Amino acid sequence: MQSVPFANGDTMPQLGLGTWKADPGVVGAAVTEALRLGYRHIDCARIYGNEAEVGRALADAFRGGLKRDDVWITSKLWNDAHAPDDVRPALERTLADLGLDHLDLYLIHWPIAHKPGVTMPQTGEDYVHPDDLPLSTTWAAMETLVDAGLTRHIGVSNCSVPRLRALVDGARRAPEVNQIELHPYLQQPAMMAYCRQAGVHLTAYSPLGSSDRPAHLRGAAEPVLLQDPTVAAVATRHGATPAQVLLAWALRRGTSVIPKSVNPARLAQNLAAADLVLGDEDVAALAALDRQYRYVSGSFWVLPGGPHTLETLWGDA
Ligand code: A2P
Repeated sequence: MQSVPFANGDTMPQLGLGTWKADPGVVGAAVTEALRLGYRHIDCARIYGNEAEVGRALADAFRGGLKRDDVWITSKLWNDAHAPDDVRPALERTLADLGLDHLDLYLIHWPIAHKPGVTMPQTGEDYVHPDDLPLSTTWAAMETLVDAGLTRHIGVSNCSVPRLRALVDGARRAPEVNQIELHPYLQQPAMMAYCRQAGVHLTAYSPLGSSDRPAHLRGAAEPVLLQDPTVAAVATRHGATPAQVLLAWALRRGTSVIPKSVNPARLAQNLAAADLVLGDEDVAALAALDRQYRYVSGSFWVLPGGPHTLETLWGDA
């Protein structure tokens, strides 16, 4: 498995298991099977509501001989804990749920702060205005988590280039990762260029199009990435599946990628994508598919009277 090197010598396996939408009751078995197959990178988050079950599967694997240092675990700070005093307790809760004494990577899940006690905002009043709690303030609290040894690396998720640049330029410890939606329908070339130049690693989420998103997060007539004819043609050429083509494409671009599956056969299929090497002809065909289409549109953050718009969220790439 290819891996991503970090400045301190740590390496992150480039293909990991996503756990968003992996429900309690099934996520544990999926993690157990993934580790058995050879996955060594699990992507988690507090808001997924399943970290305790992931933790039990990890504990089983450690009892079975897996070493903590042989697996990379990422989690994410939810939007209700951006106040500096709330950041460390949020990580400690995630660590308790996962049964770990440190994470490998902790990300700010969204550049969006909720008022205390608000898990999902219902009105614009439920947000803390960015002027009152800038992302840089939350970031400074994240930096102290590395100092304390509670996580080895810190980063962000869902950050636009201007937001990322502001953090990189102002930080004591620059974000090492931005986890964003990336796939052939949303290729984000400006983000790729900025991150290459700034030394920020990109992780691709929703690499398969996340068609298991809850109905209220789905658009009316979404394009179905896994059924794209160009992706299918590349897959046929290689005797691979469309999902494997999408994952191999992400790996070839140098991003890490975290497909979610709770199905043993698809877990194995996705891991095997690390061995699929696409040719220049394939890459050219896939490059032509970009349509700036976001499956995770962010429109659910745009509430009347609130401080967030799609322009503040995604503007300037
Ligand atoms: P399942 O968990 O039943 O395998 P994303 O990672 O973009 O969020 O996509 C996850 C969705 O893609 C889930 O519905 C998942 O279903 C499905 N999926 C995962 N791997 C594959 C695959 N190899 N082929 C087809 N669908 C897949």
